[in-house]
Amino acid sequence: MSRAIVICLLAVFTVIMKMKDNVYVNAAIHLTATPYLQTFVSHDTYDGVTHYPDGNYSRDWLITGQILNYSITIEFIACVMETGNNKGVCIRDEVFVYDGTNTSATLLKRTCCGLGDTTPFQVNSTYGYMYVLFQTDNEIGQEGFRISYILEGAPTTTARVTTSTNLDSKLPIYIAIGCALLAATAMIIFGVVCYFKWKKSNGNKIRSHENDEIKA
Ligand SMILES: *[C@@H]1O[C@H](CO)[C@@H](O)[C@H](O)[C@H]1NC(C)=O
Ligand SMILES: *[C@@H]1O[C@H](CO)[C@@H](O)[C@H](O)[C@H]1NC(C)=O
Ligand SMILES: *[C@@H]1O[C@H](CO)[C@@H](O)[C@H](O)[C@H]1NC(C)=O
Ligand SMILES: *[C@@H]1O[C@H](CO)[C@@H](O)[C@H](O)[C@H]1NC(C)=O
Repeated sequence: MSRAIVICLLAVFTVIMKMKDNVYVNAAIHLTATPYLQTFVSHDTYDGVTHYPDGNYSRDWLITGQILNYSITIEFIACVMETGNNKGVCIRDEVFVYDGTNTSATLLKRTCCGLGDTTPFQVNSTYGYMYVLFQTDNEIGQEGFRISYILEGAPTTTARVTTSTNLDSKLPIYIAIGCALLAATAMIIFGVVCYFKWKKSNGNKIRSHENDEIKA
């Protein structure tokens, strides 16, 4: 029994720490770069025609390499953003690409896909982390972008390793949910038992009280 309680506490602790981690990194979307080409888009409704929202739109991505110390290559496959006077000057909507996990890392690229940045073009990280931030000004959306990402030169044989650890990392959440359900059930049973005990011992009192009310 006490071992079960310890496991429950550990699981809850792990879940809380994981939530803290996510808040700390503060990236909305986490992507894992593998030796296989994958893509992400500027907005959920992206189809090359539908614009991203008309102002104050922001979205960020943290790309992590599946295997340590391989560089991540992203490629802007298609990209149209609002630029200054439609002349390709970057004073409106922009994408920032950092060589690390957040905006404190080295800025690798700042682009609006305007002058000098005709698609497709690539950006490479040094190690296995890349942080991509998309920020728009207060008006006029455009078609947005589609970007591919890949872990450059990494062996494909180890590609499954991280997938299984992903499952493992969810285990504490399942244990915590199980513990919560167990605790809730125990409390309900306790409550029901208490209620019946109380009812039994107060049964006579209530009955006589009811009689008083009927008389009145
Ligand atoms: C963006 O924010 C600014 C300042 O808060 C506001 O004036 C403007 O209307 C907003 N634009 C849109 C499209 O919501
Ligand atoms: C990754 O590369 C850095 C810099 O070359 C090195 O310091 C670090 O030990 C490497 N890590 C692994 C796990 O190979
Ligand atoms: C940004 O990343 C660096 C290196 O990983 C880390 O030391 C720093 O605390 C991070 N800053 C924030 C605000 O998350
Ligand atoms: C990024 O890395 C790839 C593969 O090593 C290379 O072909 C490409 O030229 C690099 N691109 C840039 C912009 O450095």
